[in-house]
Amino acid sequence: MTLQIKSFEEYKEVYKRSVEDPEGFWAEQAATFNWHKKWDKVLEWNFREPKIEWFVGGKLNITENCLDRHLESRGDQVAILFEPNQPDAPVQTYTYKQLHAAVCKTANALKANGIKKGDRVCFYMPMVPELAIGVLACARIGAVHSVVFAGFSAQALADRIKDSSCKMVICSDYNDRGAKHIPVKTVVDEALTMDCDSIETVLVHKNTNGTVDMSDPRCKWWHEEVDSQSPVCEAEVMDAEDMLFILYTSGSTGKPKGVVHTCGGYMVYTSFSFKNVFQYQDGDIYWCTADIGWITGHSYIVYGPLLAGATTVMFEGVPTYPDSGRFWAVCEKHKVNQFYTAPTAIRALMAQGDKWTEGYDLSSIKVLGTVGEPINEEAWEWYNEKIGKGNAPIVDTWWQTETGGIMISGLGAHSPMKPTYAGYPLPGIQPCLLDSDGKLLEGNDVEGLLCIKFPWPSMIRTTYGDHERCRQTYFSAFQDMYFTGDGSRRDKDGMYRIIGRVDDVINVSGHRMGTAEVENAINEHPKVVESAVVGYPHDIKGQGIYAYVITAEPVADEEALRKEILAVVTREIGPIAKPDKIQIVSGLPKTRSGKIMRRILRKVASGDTSNLGDVSTLLNPEVVDEIKDGALAKS
Ligand code: WTA
Repeated sequence: MTLQIKSFEEYKEVYKRSVEDPEGFWAEQAATFNWHKKWDKVLEWNFREPKIEWFVGGKLNITENCLDRHLESRGDQVAILFEPNQPDAPVQTYTYKQLHAAVCKTANALKANGIKKGDRVCFYMPMVPELAIGVLACARIGAVHSVVFAGFSAQALADRIKDSSCKMVICSDYNDRGAKHIPVKTVVDEALTMDCDSIETVLVHKNTNGTVDMSDPRCKWWHEEVDSQSPVCEAEVMDAEDMLFILYTSGSTGKPKGVVHTCGGYMVYTSFSFKNVFQYQDGDIYWCTADIGWITGHSYIVYGPLLAGATTVMFEGVPTYPDSGRFWAVCEKHKVNQFYTAPTAIRALMAQGDKWTEGYDLSSIKVLGTVGEPINEEAWEWYNEKIGKGNAPIVDTWWQTETGGIMISGLGAHSPMKPTYAGYPLPGIQPCLLDSDGKLLEGNDVEGLLCIKFPWPSMIRTTYGDHERCRQTYFSAFQDMYFTGDGSRRDKDGMYRIIGRVDDVINVSGHRMGTAEVENAINEHPKVVESAVVGYPHDIKGQGIYAYVITAEPVADEEALRKEILAVVTREIGPIAKPDKIQIVSGLPKTRSGKIMRRILRKVASGDTSNLGDVSTLLNPEVVDEIKDGALAKS
C-alpha cells in the first residue's frame, strides 16, 4: 500500500526521511507496485547533462498497475465515471474489469494497425472515455502517447505530429462542448495536408452522428477496428526508463517542446502524490475538471487515480453549460468527495454570482484543489466559503508539465493552510530559492527564483528529439539545479507562495503560452513587420494577452487589421492564444543592442504608465510616449 500521511507531524518526519535517504524512501514507495523485475539501482543522476534515471533496470508495465492489479480486489468498482456534456444524457461507467477489457481490445487494435513498442501515437480528442482508454492502450503495448489538446489548430497539431513523427493519430468525429458542435476530424484532415507523412492510420471515434469524410485510405473507424478485438492483451514489459509519453508545452523561446516522461518514476510519483494530496480513501469519488490534453489530466484524471484504485470522474462539458451551476450539479449528482479545478474557472463562476452555487448539496466534498496558476485571495475565500462551506481544506497544488506530479501543496487537511500559498514541498521534493546571481537564499522570509536541487521520480527526462534544449531550458541557468521559471516567496514559516513566471511564458486561463510563440503567429500576417506580446493582469483569465504590433504601412482600418490578426493566431495556434488587446505602434522600445524592453511594455499593458523608469538609454525613447498615449484602456 502506498504510504498515506495522516498528520502534519507525520509529514515532517516523512519529509525528513525522504531528504536524508531519498533512495531508501522511494524504493519503499516503488515496492508497493507490481514489477516484472526489481530495479538494480534506485537512482542515477546528474543535472549537468542532464541524466536522470530512476529504478534503473526495473521492468514493469504501468497499465498492469492501473488495471490488472485491481481486478481481484475491486474489479466491479467504477474506475471511470463519465459525465457527458448534456446533463440529461446517460452517465457512462467503466468498472476496473470493463476498463481493463476496453484497454486490451484497443491495444489489440493498435497492434493490428502496425503500432509497436516505441511508436508515437497522437491523440486529438475531446474529453470522452475513449481518450483515456486509448492512452492506456498505448501504454499497454509500449507505444508512446502524445495527446494534443483538441482546442489547438490544424497547424499546431501538424507541428506536434511532425516533431515526434507519430505513426497514428486518433481523433473523434465531432466534439459536443457546451452548446457548440465542433468538427474535430476536419482539423485532423487539414493537419494531414501539412506534410504529416509519418501518419499511416487515422483512427476515428464516432462520438456524435455527424458526417465526416473517410475517403482517405488511412482513415478507419474506431468501432470497426476495436469492437471485434480480443479483450485479452498481454502487457509489454517495459524498462523503468522507457518512454511513457510526450506532452508538448510552451517555453520562452521557439516552438513548443515535447516533454518526455518515463514509465517507472512517473508511476511511483503520480500515485504517491495523488493519494497524499487529495487524501483519497477507498470508495471516494474524485473529480478533476482538467482536460487530458494537459498534464493535469494525464497525472490526475488518468494515471494517479487509476494507480490508486480510485473512481475518477471524466467530464465532457464546460462549467457554464447549461448554466453556471453545472460543476456543483455534477458534484451533487455523483457525491464528489475531492474536487480539483483551476483558479480561472473559480473566478469565472464567482463572477456569475453566488446564486449559481446555491441549492446544491455539496456536503460530500472533503478536499478542494486548485492548479495551474496563482489563486488570488478573493477567489480562494469564495471557493472556501461557497463550495467548501468552510469545512473542506483547499490544496493549492503547484507543479508543471515538466515535474510530472504535484510538487508543493497541502496534504488534504493535514497541512497548515494559508490563502495564496501552495505551502510545503511534498516528500522527496527539495525546493530552494536563488537570487538572480545564483546565490542560494537561506532561511525564511525570502523571495527568489524557484529551483529544485535534487531529482524526484516523475521529473522530465528530456525534450523529445533535442536533449540539448532540455539542458539549456532547465539546467543551464544555475549549476546543479532544475530551474522552474517561476518566482516564489518563502514566508517566515517556510511556506511557499508562487508568484508567477519570471520568463517569457504567460499563463492565460491556466493555459501556458510562450509569448514568442504568439509573436511568431502574429508575424505571419503579411502586413505585420514585428510584434511583441506580454501578459497583463486579467480579472478572470489571470493574465490576458496584450500584443504590440508594427505594420509595414500605415493602417487605414485598424479594426479590420485586428480581426485579421486574430484569425491568423487562431489558424497558427488556436483560439486560446488570441490576444485580448492589440495596439498598433510605429516602433518598440529597444536597447542599443536591439533587445525589446519588455518591462516597459508589461507596465503599459497593465495600465500603469506612471513610472516607466529611465528610458533615455533606449535606442528610440520617443516611441515610449507614443505607446503610452495609445495604450488600450484597462478593461
Ligand atoms: C503555474 C500545470 C501558482 C506556474 C500543472 C507553473 C501555478 C506553470 C500553480 C506550469 C499554482 C501551476 N500556483 N502557479 N498552484 N500551478 N502554476 O506546465 O507558473 O501547464 O510554472 O502545468 O503554471 O504550467 P503547466
